[in-house]
Amino acid sequence: MSENLIIFNARIVTPIGFSARKGEEMSQLQVIENGTVEVTKGIITYVGENRGEDRDGYYQHYWHYNARGHCLLPGFVDSHTHFVFGGERSEEFSWRLNGESYMSIMERGGGIASTVKATRQMNFLKLRSAAEGFLKRMSTMGVTTVEGKSGYGLDRETELLQLKVMRSLNNTEHKRVDIVSTFLGAHALPEEYAGRSDEYIDFLIREMLPLVRDGELAECCDVFCEQGVFSIEQSRRLLQAAKEHGFLLKLHADEIVSLGGAELAAELGALSADHLLHASDAGIRAMADAGVVATLLPLTAFALKEPYARGREMIDSGCAVALATDLNPGSCFSGSIPLTIALACIYMKMSIEETITALTLNGAAALQRADRIGSIEVGKQGDFIVLNSNNYHILPYYIGMNCVIMTIKGGMLYPV
Ligand code: NIG
Ligand code: FE
Repeated sequence: MSENLIIFNARIVTPIGFSARKGEEMSQLQVIENGTVEVTKGIITYVGENRGEDRDGYYQHYWHYNARGHCLLPGFVDSHTHFVFGGERSEEFSWRLNGESYMSIMERGGGIASTVKATRQMNFLKLRSAAEGFLKRMSTMGVTTVEGKSGYGLDRETELLQLKVMRSLNNTEHKRVDIVSTFLGAHALPEEYAGRSDEYIDFLIREMLPLVRDGELAECCDVFCEQGVFSIEQSRRLLQAAKEHGFLLKLHADEIVSLGGAELAAELGALSADHLLHASDAGIRAMADAGVVATLLPLTAFALKEPYARGREMIDSGCAVALATDLNPGSCFSGSIPLTIALACIYMKMSIEETITALTLNGAAALQRADRIGSIEVGKQGDFIVLNSNNYHILPYYIGMNCVIMTIKGGMLYPV
């Protein structure tokens, strides 16, 4: 019963389509004044103008929600996070405040390695309950689907543990957030493999990819392709093997230096290339031509005091741009959707309409789910957010403040 829902009198605002929107398509939103959405058993069965009275009593089996004076948008898709981890790195943050760089901390054994140490000490229940806490917070900001990565184990047992935590959270009844899992075994070189990074890549290819695939523990495979972490050649080798195992491909690309990660993503037909702070002109063109979703993470640029990715130029070059938070314990300890939107508008010169598409349909496409989520259309999941205004322009105006008053997941209402 609770997954049957009628929302009426809403101002419905949504991108339209079942695949990523590129270039100028990103600013085209459908707006329906006095709109109704019908959700039956969790799936959208009607979208359009209000339909008048329910003369045949059909809707007695539906919950009713009067959204007069409010905008209804698709649920947000946060398509790049690292929300399953142990410990915290506030001390490292203060070192950065004193001028140390993210990479220099990593080079002297801190950074990702320090979260790896803490995560290896966690058991399943502790890790799960910490991760569950993040999902609840995300839901209050309107997130209905999140991508989560492993990459804080870097050994067989702990990588699988992170992925199992996500599977367990995803198998919960009446969950508020769907989870798409990504295997990021190539997040950093574990100390056991110091000086032997090619051998570590061999280990991931030989042992981990088959284990993760056979256990159906992740849909995507990702790599931190960066100077001093994994090279273009190593990333290509790993991702090619992952592709052969049936994984969808993602890359942490051109985050700190311009290494050619965007070009590699295009060459391999990756689903997305993420970060892209230093993506080259050729890389941007290659992503547009190959249909790679450019996933931009402005909170990370903000937190690292790095230049923002060239979102405006990417859209003008015909890329499909997605926005995500990159929530993680190091470079960006924030899952703030409101701040992501404000930064994208203010510093990456994206329009409000483009940020909405980037956080809904294009985020869905970055997870190969644009056929199921990301817009308010018949046949898609009943995942929505209700804003505290009928004017969606409040989204970037609320800088870092939440204007979502209700998250609706599969037709279930979760007041904020
Ligand atoms: O997306 N750049 C690599 N990975 C994460 C940071 C991970 C960490 O610092 O713990 C990122 O920024
Ligand atoms: Fe990341």
